[in-house]
Amino acid sequence: DRQAIVAIDGPAGAGKSTVARLVARELGLMYLDTGAMYRAVTWLLRDRDIPLDDEAAVAEVVAEAEIRLQVPDDDPQAPCPVWINDRDVTEAIRSLDVTAHVSAVAALGCVRRYLLKQQQRYGRQGGVVAEGRDIGTHVFPDAELKIFLTASVEERARRRHQDLADRGEGQIGLERLARDLQERDRKDSTREIAPLTKAPDAIEIETDGLSIEQVVRAIVDRYRDRH
Ligand code: C5P
Repeated sequence: DRQAIVAIDGPAGAGKSTVARLVARELGLMYLDTGAMYRAVTWLLRDRDIPLDDEAAVAEVVAEAEIRLQVPDDDPQAPCPVWINDRDVTEAIRSLDVTAHVSAVAALGCVRRYLLKQQQRYGRQGGVVAEGRDIGTHVFPDAELKIFLTASVEERARRRHQDLADRGEGQIGLERLARDLQERDRKDSTREIAPLTKAPDAIEIETDGLSIEQVVRAIVDRYRDRH
């Protein structure tokens, strides 16, 4: 008998992290950013110069990877610290290099199996809002509430541009950002294992023209309707 689970999936840049974190805070649940786990593994493989098509070499590194995630409970805007093998990679996992390679890493069976186990262990007792690509379909298929968050590619590119500008990296153009998002979505939705797709019982929220507060409110209301 476990507490409730909220699953939030969707394409890149749809605002899942911001929304999931605020929903967790409002409902008093834990927050799990599974994308950060795939990013941390990608950072480690790149740091060690492991060829991503060498699954045996990847599996070896992954087997000894220990990831820790933290959620600061004071400031909901502050970045969530991430460690892998005791290295603080909070900022490094958001780099262009990691972003460009994470979909290839996330397509590997050995990586997905390993992280799936960790994610399910984290949610064993429930009480969690988990966010990613395959939460409602594979990680927590029995989640009480499943949300599929989307937005037009133009809107997602604009948001990504704003995020980067806030970090002093506003020089990448909107068109390039839109292309990168679409390329990542294409890889994530066409891979063989646990591809990005809306679970049949997920509620889709198209967020163009909605504020963060409105999206959070919509999800929290759905949750309270059912509890
Ligand atoms: O959400 P975020 O953009 O940080 O995710 C980075 C990448 O991690 C995704 O593009 C995808 O390749 C992978 N991912 C995944 N399954 C998840 C979460 C993320 O394959 N549940």
